[in-house]
Amino acid sequence: MRKATMHYVLDIIEGLILLMLVVSGFILWFALPEGSESGKIILFDRHTWVEAHRWLAVALLVFFSTHVLTHWTWLIYMTKRFFTRSNKG
Ligand code: HEM
Repeated sequence: MRKATMHYVLDIIEGLILLMLVVSGFILWFALPEGSESGKIILFDRHTWVEAHRWLAVALLVFFSTHVLTHWTWLIYMTKRFFTRSNKG
């Protein structure tokens, strides 16, 4: 797989995980807040949403770390340039 294709696939997965985190986060915040354990179901029960939210957070951490690592050289190059060329582009 080409490097650019691999980054594209990884970024799409990362974006989807973030989207699912946001959706599950808002469901937990507004639809299934603490105290709504007793039988309320929004597709799944509250316990399952909390578990999903936790594991999505772990997955995002893994993909985000990979993202940073695979762009490490670029990140260092840009940071050096930013601080040495009074950031004129
Ligand atoms: C718009 C985005 C988000 C919203 C609205 C949101 C909302 C929430 C809410 C309401 C809870 C409390 C769950 C409960 O009642 O027990 C929670 C817990 C948590 N959130 Fe989020 N969240 C968001 C994004 C994220 C992100 C980006 C991460 C990590 C990368 C994250 C990680 C966690 C973790 C680890 C917990 C603790 C779960 C537990 O052990 O109870 N959340 N979030």
